[in-house]
Amino acid sequence: MKNISVLVSGGGTNLQAVIDSIESGKIPDAKIVQVISSKKDAYALTRAANHGIEGVYIGKENYPQMEDRTEAIIRALDEKKTDLVILAGYMSVLEPKLIEAYRNRIINIHPSLIPKYCGKGFYGHYVHEAVLAGGEKESGATVHFVDEGVDTGKIILQKSVPVMEDDTPDTLAARVLEVEHEILPQAVCMFCEGKL
Ligand code: GAR
Repeated sequence: MKNISVLVSGGGTNLQAVIDSIESGKIPDAKIVQVISSKKDAYALTRAANHGIEGVYIGKENYPQMEDRTEAIIRALDEKKTDLVILAGYMSVLEPKLIEAYRNRIINIHPSLIPKYCGKGFYGHYVHEAVLAGGEKESGATVHFVDEGVDTGKIILQKSVPVMEDDTPDTLAARVLEVEHEILPQAVCMFCEGKL
């Protein structure tokens, strides 16, 4: 049985996709042991509660110093004997100490086809705005391991979607989210089966 901790900051639709895949048996032998949120009011925490999963807020209010937040996260991951950390819409960059402690055990979902539209400043709707401004004909999503760089770790899975002429950042985001919800649970499954 693999223990999974999920780090979130927002709505948590990717968290929901992983919860659903575990509950339906598509991801066997895995358990989400906690959801850690950098935002106190993240809807992802409500999603966790709805499924009886412990939610923890570790953010600027209870840990004003970045170093203390990192320590608190590592402590929480260790306490739950975490095998895999999923960044599912987690909007902070992890400190090297945490990456080192969980090397090759942290994966992130990113809403573009890395190496395009990733790195510092490319997150959430900024990614989709940039893709549209760049006149791209396709975009997509990427699941990758997390290393010390921003969106530079080894790629696990990618899937593309078309960009339509009348797309807005919102309509493109919705199309990309659909494939995020496919490839993130798939990557989690591969990890849990020891295929990564
Ligand atoms: C997702 O599109 C995810 O790829 C993106 O934030 C959204 C979170 O949605 N993550 C990043 O931009 C990280 N660089 P969700 O809270 O509904 O899963």
